[in-house]
Amino acid sequence: MNLDLLHSKILSCQLCDLALGRTKAVPGEGPCPAGIMLVGEAPGAEEDVTGRPFVGRAGRLLDRSLGLAGINRSEVFITSVVKCRPPLNRKPKSIEIESCHHYLQSQIDLVHPRVVGLMGNVAVGALLNLQGVTTLRGQVLQGRFLVTFHPAAVLRNNNLQEAFVSDLKKIKEMGSGDQ
Ligand code: URA
Repeated sequence: MNLDLLHSKILSCQLCDLALGRTKAVPGEGPCPAGIMLVGEAPGAEEDVTGRPFVGRAGRLLDRSLGLAGINRSEVFITSVVKCRPPLNRKPKSIEIESCHHYLQSQIDLVHPRVVGLMGNVAVGALLNLQGVTTLRGQVLQGRFLVTFHPAAVLRNNNLQEAFVSDLKKIKEMGSGDQ
């Protein structure tokens, strides 16, 4: 399986009920392989319409924060745990996270990043089966997962911005090097 084939499967996926309400599935985007992978929660309204990850308000905050950390977005593979927008942007249900999990795992296998930035509790829960971003943030787990806040949390609480950028700087250090 290559990434294009995987993404074409995601675009036509019918494994859970989120398929019924979506405009477009949002597989994710970026180079393959890539030193850095970032994982969010689920697409929002603008992502659902465009089919691209992190292009709404949270995405603009992410872009600014990546810039402050000295990371070029074009070097990063960006995706989310769930590839289709949950209605009214509710939290994804366990069944939806489980249905989508093999896509995320295949992306990690194919992109083969040095570091995976887990942004928020949904990503930390899906990949590490842990909760508690506030206490876990900044920590590297299993050698390559770095826990940080979701950009939407930073939008809600500007006090988190400095820690978020500092986590992204650590991600840059861990992810740099030729692929
Ligand atoms: N939030 C996410 O977790 N993913 C997106 O693609 C957009 C917003």
